Amino acid sequence: MPPPTSSIAVRAESLVKTFGSTRALDGVDLEIPAGTVLGLLGPNGAGKTTTVRILTTLLRPDSGTAFIAGHDVLTDPDAVRRSIGLSGQYAAVDEHLTGYENLFMVGRLYGKSRTDAATRARELISRFRLKDAGDRPARTYSGGMRRRLDLAGALVAEPAVVVLDEPTTGLDPRGRMDTWDVIGELVADGATVLLTTQYLEEADQLADTILVIDHGKVIASGTADQLKAQVGGERLEIVVADPAEIPVTKIVLAEVGADEPTVEDHQRRVQVRVDTGPKALVEALRRLDQENVSVLDVALHRPTLDDVFLSLTGHIAEEAAPEAEGKRKGRKARKEQS
Ligand SMILES: Nc1ncnc2c1ncn2[C@@H]1O[C@H](COP(=O)(O)OP(=O)(O)O)[C@@H](O)[C@H]1O
Ligand SMILES: [Mg+2]
Repeated sequence: MPPPTSSIAVRAESLVKTFGSTRALDGVDLEIPAGTVLGLLGPNGAGKTTTVRILTTLLRPDSGTAFIAGHDVLTDPDAVRRSIGLSGQYAAVDEHLTGYENLFMVGRLYGKSRTDAATRARELISRFRLKDAGDRPARTYSGGMRRRLDLAGALVAEPAVVVLDEPTTGLDPRGRMDTWDVIGELVADGATVLLTTQYLEEADQLADTILVIDHGKVIASGTADQLKAQVGGERLEIVVADPAEIPVTKIVLAEVGADEPTVEDHQRRVQVRVDTGPKALVEALRRLDQENVSVLDVALHRPTLDDVFLSLTGHIAEEAAPEAEGKRKGRKARKEQS
């Protein structure tokens, strides 16, 4: 029987790290039960990579402790390194080697025999859908293929914990979805994963538990549903035909809503948080009709992680604007498939 501690694969307590006057980490705690995925979600500069570097022994914290698979990052870094596979924000792939050769080389670096390294490389090439590309130099790969190869590299040594630092940042929507699929399979296999991301949708799709981090502090944690529930209620959205109807619409929504309505003049859209869902919607439409407001569009939304982020931090998470459209479409397509 495994010792009781083995059920927690990663544990960090009160991690603090400063760079000059920047407090990159200001007391971060985290815990990842074996076989689960923790999503560390935060905007640029939040402290995600600093956390990853400490957990992977690349950086010492000023204070605090961390254990990976029961090994102390401070006193037993070699054992920690043997327990993790790291895939970085900037893919560590040798451009001149083929995909297969890259993975073979990593296997040899980890001390595998030629036969074992070859077997493992072939296995991973096929699993990460690089079969057709496995014998081509990595420099001919697309961004998404390169990321998948890097991800495969992190798994060569069959690590207890896989650490993925922003695995899809900078990828186009297609590359991002391919990478999500591969990570999804990894997760389905029961891997323990620490995943950092700036993308709410990515955390939503892949993580069992999400820690929201901002300015080096964990500001919220829970499942995606728990975080959404923290925001409370749903969002009622009304688009009116005529800008002159915005003020009266705002008054009506203030009456049926649970907080102050927000107005986007350009879109002629007024929104408010509601606690009574469809009831509030019906009531709003009835009153708007009484006021002779012509409603172009109406919607009731469950809170998204974007709403969570906004309510926690007062600013929305950064998303690469040109990609947002494609990503949404992609997500929808995935949902329809399943
Ligand atoms: N080596 C470093 N020297 C100075 N400042 C750093 C260094 N590494 C990170 N920082 C700062 O620490 C903060 C957190 O950075 P980082 O952990 O890289 O954030 P994230 O990965 O979430 O974007 C940022 O303000 C960043 O500028
Ligand atoms: Mg980073």
